[in-house]
Amino acid sequence: MSMRLSAYPTFGAVPRDIGVDLALVIDTLRMTSVAATAFSNGCARMLAVETIEEARTLADRYGALAGGERGGLRVDGFDLGNSPLEYTARRVSGRSIVVTTTNGTRAVARVKCARNVWLASLLNADAVAERIRESGFADVALVCAGTAGRFSMEDALTAGAIASRLGDEREADDFTLACKILYRALARDIRGAMAGSEHAGRLLRLGFAGDLDYCAREGTLKSVPALGGDGWFTSA
Ligand code: MLT
Repeated sequence: MSMRLSAYPTFGAVPRDIGVDLALVIDTLRMTSVAATAFSNGCARMLAVETIEEARTLADRYGALAGGERGGLRVDGFDLGNSPLEYTARRVSGRSIVVTTTNGTRAVARVKCARNVWLASLLNADAVAERIRESGFADVALVCAGTAGRFSMEDALTAGAIASRLGDEREADDFTLACKILYRALARDIRGAMAGSEHAGRLLRLGFAGDLDYCAREGTLKSVPALGGDGWFTSA
């Protein structure tokens, strides 16, 4: 069956009633990189919520860890921030985690009408593309979270990395094509390309250079976080 790919530069550009087979939420720096890492390190399940209050309440209710950021930094009283390097097996193995972030978790909320929602980053780009190829989905939306309502280059690079892995024979809209061109032009030095982005600049100023190095790695993780009917993400 043929598959149509559509890409969105920010989550705000996604129609609220989007009814695609799969919405692939991409927040390369850093929420979806955090999720891929947490599941690779044995996290049992993850809930993405929009507000700090919800995260506190639900983490309490489920005996879960609370994770995420505001302004890039760990929220007061939370167990974890939004650095993937914090989500080690020692911290997260076997645990439920409730996360809230400035853009990534809001992007997840935006695509609730999609039939399936997965989380993608450069880290799990190979695994995501492989699962999509096996899926038989007819339409896939590549939803770049963006930053503060604006386009983020690192998300477009991830969308391009995944679309490129799916092959050029797919029907694709213009933004998907643009993401592929961007990715192919910069693929030899993804970390260098990302380092010039606005969001990376902010993370570098906050002292998260290690996160940038880590999130720029391609295809190192096998986990594909997928949203279940109960509202929690799990990964096979
Ligand atoms: C977000 O969701 O806005 C990001 O993950 C922010 C960050 O890099 O901490």
